[in-house]
Amino acid sequence: MYDLNDKVVVITGGSNGIGAVVTDHFLAEGAKHVRILDVDEKSGLSLQASLNEKYGDNKVKFAKCDVTDQDQLFGALVDAKEENEYIDVLINNAGIPDESTLGLVRKQIEINYLATVFGTLKGIELMRTDKGGRGGAIINISSIAGLAPICPPLFIYSSNKKAVLQFSTCIGKDTCANTGVRVIGLSYGVTDTPILGTMNTFERAFDDRVKAIVNSVPIQSAEDAARGTVEVFKNAASASIWVVHRSLPAQEVTPIFEKADQEIIKILTE
Ligand SMILES: NC(=O)c1ccc[n+]([C@@H]2O[C@H](COP(=O)([O-])OP(=O)(O)OC[C@H]3O[C@@H](n4cnc5c(N)ncnc54)[C@H](O)[C@@H]3O)[C@@H](O)[C@H]2O)c1
Repeated sequence: MYDLNDKVVVITGGSNGIGAVVTDHFLAEGAKHVRILDVDEKSGLSLQASLNEKYGDNKVKFAKCDVTDQDQLFGALVDAKEENEYIDVLINNAGIPDESTLGLVRKQIEINYLATVFGTLKGIELMRTDKGGRGGAIINISSIAGLAPICPPLFIYSSNKKAVLQFSTCIGKDTCANTGVRVIGLSYGVTDTPILGTMNTFERAFDDRVKAIVNSVPIQSAEDAARGTVEVFKNAASASIWVVHRSLPAQEVTPIFEKADQEIIKILTE
């Protein structure tokens, strides 16, 4: 069981939605500082002001950062470490589901997958115990659309989110022993945030199907998602996969994936 007491946390996409509420919950659990990296400066600065009033000066600092710009992302992570001595937790949370144009398809892959990969690689470098860090946890945010093909019309979003889980389990398995950094995949279920209004498909004719799928499951609050994120931080082993949905406690699904992997490995090796 891990605890958040005195931890330095960095979260991407923390100005709004689930990330903003995760920031609040992590501070309530005793985190020393949360650095929010986001493109939305107005909401980020307003959240910084309200949470510093609630928890004390310099508990939260917003830094404008487009995670698709590697120099900005790496620079912001280095700044967070230099200003706080350590980074203990990184949550690669920024994400968009809109894939209605070729430009947005590219942007989505850059935000949802590439920024998660590069954030994780830089995060490990800055946190690893064998290079002066004190270890920690990287939580990569996926979706139930990445757990199973429940929303095929969002084919870019689904494949990005599946890739996030595959990347997190592969890197989490092999690096943690040397680095002391856990890498965890976390899928949220449908959660009441502004993102739900931007689920636009490439084949626009499928937009209504996506709406019907989203409306067919119970929608949890951002508070539910944040509470589950705290549970995952406290309990997850490196390379594990978790789901937080339907306002339920966080649930580990790693054994289900491992069972399927074993079946495939049997076919590949027999
Ligand atoms: N809400 C849901 O139903 C749901 C379900 C499953 C997974 N998720 C995932 O949870 C995460 C958070 O989603 P949310 O619902 O809070 O969405 P949201 O739209 O409320 O918040 C996303 C945040 O990411 C920021 N962002 C967008 N592009 C960025 C960029 N290039 N650089 C930095 N920041 C950027 C936005 O400004 C915003 O603050 C996402 O990865 C999303 O895919 C959400």
